[in-house]
Amino acid sequence: MLKVVILAAGKSTRMKSDRPKVLHAIAGLPMLRWVVEAARALSPDEIIVIVGHGAEGVRKEFAPDKLTFVAQEPQLGTGHAVLQARAALAGAGQVAVLCGDVPLLTADTLKRLAECHRDARAAATVLTTVLEKPAGYGRILRDERGSVKAIVEQKDLKPGQERISEINSGTYLFNGPELVARLDRLTNANAQKEYYLTDVVHLLAQDGQSVAAWCCEDSREVLGINTRRELAACDKIARWRVVEQLMAGGVTVLDPENAYIEAGVKVGRDTTIYPYTAIHAGVQIGERCEIGPYAHLRSGTVVGNDCKVGAFVETKNAKIGDESKAGHLAYLGDVTLGKDVNIGAGTIVANYDGKQKHKTEIGDEAFIGCGTVLVAPVKVGKRGQTGANTVVPKNKDVPDDTIVVGAPARVLKRKA
Ligand code: UD1
Ligand code: CA
Repeated sequence: MLKVVILAAGKSTRMKSDRPKVLHAIAGLPMLRWVVEAARALSPDEIIVIVGHGAEGVRKEFAPDKLTFVAQEPQLGTGHAVLQARAALAGAGQVAVLCGDVPLLTADTLKRLAECHRDARAAATVLTTVLEKPAGYGRILRDERGSVKAIVEQKDLKPGQERISEINSGTYLFNGPELVARLDRLTNANAQKEYYLTDVVHLLAQDGQSVAAWCCEDSREVLGINTRRELAACDKIARWRVVEQLMAGGVTVLDPENAYIEAGVKVGRDTTIYPYTAIHAGVQIGERCEIGPYAHLRSGTVVGNDCKVGAFVETKNAKIGDESKAGHLAYLGDVTLGKDVNIGAGTIVANYDGKQKHKTEIGDEAFIGCGTVLVAPVKVGKRGQTGANTVVPKNKDVPDDTIVVGAPARVLKRKA
């Protein structure tokens, strides 16, 4: 039986945030979501999340996910965190420990760690990497034969040890009973007065147990997030991965560095995404579309095939039928567009009356003139047309095959 423990109780002082660190977004999804998804690759019997700081928020966000939450109060270190799960770990042959603040770890790497652990028949296997700038991370100490004998935290380094470039990623596989038997033996006799999980490695080595290490080649995968700066760096890497996947699926992304596409976005082949376009998690876009530059597609947007969502167009809960076009400067919220609809520049769907959101429907081949305001709830029929600067009041539906106009300019006075 394999169980996963994800550590997510820490305070994260350096984020200077009221929000729990693991709920900060990476490519649009909470950091912890990425870790949970990676953990699932090991097909564990149970995923246990240790929560403390901001526990309520974390439990709420992940309520539908069938995770076991274990509280750690107060937070006395990573070893103390795992200790809280002792009862839940009874009977687990293997225990994987992951950090909630290391979101870029891939399922592939976790599987390799598991293989390495199995092949080495080790009591514990640590996922490590080599960093040019290892400062801040725990360092891996090996004996003459190369086996791991301890992990030393940055603040406990002895002179010379700061040069060690192999670091602890905070990800491990343990033989379950060997781990549990040592949790009680941890002490907080260190610089931070914390119960370090990393000391389990030392205890195992002292007891003559073998500790293996799997060194991850792509060190970006194990970047830990402790500051907003690291958050931004990881977010960028995650978004790049999203863009890479889209490109592999036949999407043209002009200037990927300047596309803000969140995880879980679906885009069809031969669609082009122009720069400075933000596309939120869950948005779906069909084939052969042109999106952006400077478009903002928010949640609930579903775009058909051969569509255009151009510059400074914002959509939210918008279903856009095939061949429909909103070329420039529009807001389309809570709206359904049929096929081959043309949305003129400056069109606003006024979906919010100050209290509630209302829906708008625009039929096939409708032609909405520039500067039209559609006050929801309202419908425009098939081939319905509005003149420039028309205001269509709520519930004053435009029938099929009908042109409406409104608010033409009139002479106010002659100046001379
Ligand atoms: C830890 C490791 C370090 C490693 C680094 C990798 C220890 C002692 N050190 O250091 O060797 O290089 O991760 O990123 O394990 N947490 C709790 N309860 C606590 C303390 C922490 O749940 O009482 C959680 C945090 O929320 C976080 C994770 O454990 O998700 C790691 O804790 P953090 O304080 O960030 O450890 P580091 O100093 O980064
Ligand atoms: Ca950390």
